[in-house]
Amino acid sequence: MLNHNTIKIAVLPGDGIGKEVIEAVLPIFSALSLPITYHIGDIGWDCWVNQANPIPEETWNLINQSDTILLGATTSKPEREAKAELLDKSNLNVVYTSPIIQLRQKLDLFANVRPCFAINKQKQFNFCVIRENTEGLYSGFDYDHLPDDFKKIVSEVPHWNDKINEALSCTLRINSETGMRRIIQFAFEYALKNNHSRVSYADKPNVLRKSSTLGRAIFEEIAARFPQIQADILNVDAVGMHLVTKPEMFGVIVTENMFGDILSDVAAGVMGGLGLAPSANIGLQKSYFEPVHGSGPKMKKNTANPSATFFSLSMLLSYFGHEKFAHIIKNAVINIIRENKTVTRDLGGNSSTYEMALAIIEEAKKGADKNA
Ligand code: NAI
Ligand code: MG
Repeated sequence: MLNHNTIKIAVLPGDGIGKEVIEAVLPIFSALSLPITYHIGDIGWDCWVNQANPIPEETWNLINQSDTILLGATTSKPEREAKAELLDKSNLNVVYTSPIIQLRQKLDLFANVRPCFAINKQKQFNFCVIRENTEGLYSGFDYDHLPDDFKKIVSEVPHWNDKINEALSCTLRINSETGMRRIIQFAFEYALKNNHSRVSYADKPNVLRKSSTLGRAIFEEIAARFPQIQADILNVDAVGMHLVTKPEMFGVIVTENMFGDILSDVAAGVMGGLGLAPSANIGLQKSYFEPVHGSGPKMKKNTANPSATFFSLSMLLSYFGHEKFAHIIKNAVINIIRENKTVTRDLGGNSSTYEMALAIIEEAKKGADKNA
C-alpha cells in the first residue's frame, strides 16, 4: 500500500506466548535480510502490575518514532483482577484500559483486517473480514445500570415499562457517518488491491431497522463507485452460518465492531484455528500487525504455533510495499504446514514453537534464493 524502503518497527512481544512467537519469528529478519530495522519495547500485564500502566511512556515514544508495530499478544483482565494485582496499591484509583484498546483508540486504527485463506489444498477459500474498530457496540457506552437519561425513552415502550424498576443493563450501538464512510471505503479499496471480486456488508437490517439505514446508504453510495466489484448487504447471522458452510462464496466482509469481533473469530476457526490467523489494525497514519490469538496462559511452554505471527509479518511487509518478501514468508508457512512434518500440536504434530519457526525460516530462505 505504502512504499517505504526500510521499515522502522516497534516490536512489542507482550505476555505469555506473545513473547514466544515473537522470539521465534525475529530470526527471519536477518535470515532474509528483510528491509526492516527494529527496537523492542515493553507492553502488557507486567507493565500494569509494576507501573500501573500497560503501555509505559518509553513504549509510546518508541511507537511514535516507528513506522509500525509488530505485536505478540497481551494479557488483559477485568477491572477487579487488575486492581488486585497492582504492586503499588497507591495506584488503586488508576483505571485499567487494555493495551490493545489503547493502541486502537490513541492511534485511531479504525480498520481491523483479518484475511482468511485455505491452507489445505482440498479447500478453496480466500476472504477477509474487515471490522470497524472504533465505534458500534464497542464504543464505550456500556452501562451496568440504565442511565437516568435513557429511562424516559425506555419507559415509553409498554414491553419495558413494567421492568423499569428492575436491574437493567444497556449498551449503545453508535456509528458516525465519518466512521462508516472510512471503513466502507477502506473495504472496497482493500478488495481492489487484493483481487477480491465481492464486498459484503454484514449487518442486521431486518431487526435493527433504523440504526442500519446510515451504513446501508453509505455502503450503496460507495459501492456505486466500484462497479467492477459485486456488492451486497447481508444479515450477519446468515454470514456466520455461510462462513462455516460455504466460505468460498465471500470476498471482503465489512462490518461493525462487535459483529466483526465475532465473525473474525469464526473466520479464524474456518482457517484452522487461532494458531494460524493473522491480523492488521490500520489507521490513516499508523498501523499495527499481530496474530489474532491472545497470550495463551493455559498453554504449555513452547507449544504455540508461530504461523499466525509469520502471516502477520507477511501482511506488514505487503502493507509497506514489499510484496516479494510478503509472498516468500506466506508461502514458506503454507509449505511447512502442508508438508506436515515440523508442525505444532494444534496441527497434530509435536514440534515446538521454535522448531516450527526454524523450519519456516529455512523454507523461506529457499524461496528467497529461488527469487534472487
Ligand atoms: P488465547 O488466544 O490466548 O488462547 C485460547 C486458546 O487458543 C489456547 O488455549 C489454545 O488452545 C489456542 N491458541 C491460541 N493461540 C495459539 C497458538 N499460537 N498456537 C496454538 N494454539 C493457540 O485466548 P484466551 O485464553 O481467551 O485469552 C488469554 C489472554 O489473552 C487473556 O488475558 C485475553 O484478554 C488475552 N487476549 C489478547 C489478545 C491480544 O493480545 N490481541 C487477543 C485475545 C485475547
Ligand atoms: Mg475477539
